[in-house]
Amino acid sequence: MRDDVATVEPSRSTSLPEDADRILQVDGLSVDFATDHGWANVVSDVSFSVGQGEIVGLVGESGSGKTVTGLSILGLVQRPPGRHAGGHIWFDGRDLTAMSDKEMRDVRGNEISMIFQEPMTSLNPAFTVGDQIAETVRRHRGGSRKAGMQRAVEVLELVGIPNATQRVRSYPHEFSGGMRQRAMIAMSLACEPKILLADEPTTALDVTIQAQILELLGSMREGIGMGVLLITHDLGVVAEVCDRVVVMYAGQVVEQSPVAPIFERPRMPYTEGLLSAMPQVGARSGRLASIPGRTPEPWNMPPGCRFHPRCPYTEPKCTEGPIPLEPVGAGWLSRCVRTHELELNGAK
Ligand SMILES: Nc1ncnc2c1ncn2[C@@H]1O[C@H](COP(=O)(O)OP(=O)(O)OP(=O)(O)O)[C@@H](O)[C@H]1O
Ligand SMILES: [Mg+2]
Repeated sequence: MRDDVATVEPSRSTSLPEDADRILQVDGLSVDFATDHGWANVVSDVSFSVGQGEIVGLVGESGSGKTVTGLSILGLVQRPPGRHAGGHIWFDGRDLTAMSDKEMRDVRGNEISMIFQEPMTSLNPAFTVGDQIAETVRRHRGGSRKAGMQRAVEVLELVGIPNATQRVRSYPHEFSGGMRQRAMIAMSLACEPKILLADEPTTALDVTIQAQILELLGSMREGIGMGVLLITHDLGVVAEVCDRVVVMYAGQVVEQSPVAPIFERPRMPYTEGLLSAMPQVGARSGRLASIPGRTPEPWNMPPGCRFHPRCPYTEPKCTEGPIPLEPVGAGWLSRCVRTHELELNGAK
C-alpha cells in the first residue's frame, strides 16, 4: 500500500516545470457588462495560458470577447459598466484580479506590456518618441533621464529604426505609420516584459510592414523569452507566427490547440467556418469572411451550444444543456458534442 503511495507522489513534481513555464494563466475568467437588458455576460469562463517564449493567437469574430479578455489581463476593464464576474488571472504566481489599481499600474507597461491597433492613440503627440520611452523606463525602473534616453535608443535600434540616436528626438507625427508601430513596440519592450499583449497590432498596416512587424515579434520572443498573446481576426497571421491558437465564440473558448493540427483538421464546426472563410493559408490578407448568420447578443444566448443556430451539423442534442470544453488530443480542447463524429475540413 505504502509503495503505491510512494510511486504516485513523484508524478506531481514532473508536472511542475510545465506549470512554471506558463507565465500567464487565465483561469475561468468571466466578465459582465451593464446593458439595457441588465448584466450581460460577455466573457464566460475563459481559460488558457501563455508560456515563456510562446506566441498564442486569440481569434474569433467581432464581439466574441477577445479585447475584453485582453483588457481584463491588464486590469483595464472600466467598472462600471464592466464587472469581474469570476475567475483568476495568474501571472508569475500572483492573481492579477486581486491586485489594487496601484499594484496593477506597476505591472502594466513593465512586466506585462501591450500594443494596440492604432499607435497614434497610444503615443502622445506633444512629446518626442525618445522622451516617452525614457519616461516609461524611469517610471518602472527609476534611473536618470540620460539613462532612460539611452535605453530608448537601444530599443529603437532593436526594432529596426534607422539612425536611432537621431530619431529618438522625433515627434510621433514625424514617423510613418510603420515606424510609429515600431516605436510603440519599442516602448512596450523597453522594460523587457514577460508578456506582450498585442490587440490587432498589424491590422491598420500595409502588407509589407505587417510582415516586418510579425517578424519582429517572432525575434523578440526568441531574444528575451517574452510570451505573446496576439489578438487577431487574421488566421493567416496565426498560421504564420503563432504556436497555439485559442478560438473564441460568443464569449466562450470553443477550441484550443497547437496551430498546425487545427489548420489541418479542426474539431469544432465554428473553427471550420473560420478556416473556410480564409482565402489561403499563409496569405496575410486572410481576414475572416462571414459565416452565415450572426453572433448572438450577450443577453440572448441560445441554449446548449452557442453556435448551434449557425452550425451546419446541428442535431437536437446540441441544443441541450451547457456544452463542456473537452480534451480531444494533446493540448487540444473542443466544445462540441459531435466532435468525435465529425470529419471537419481544415484550411484549403
Ligand atoms: N464598454 C462596454 N460596454 C458594454 N458592452 C461592451 C463594452 N465593451 C465591450 N462590450 C461588449 O462585449 C462583447 C465583447 O466585445 P470585445 O470588444 O471583447 O469583442 P472583440 O472580440 O474584441 O471584437 P473585435 O474583433 O470587433 O475587436 C461585445 O458584445 C461588446 O458589445
Ligand atoms: Mg477587439
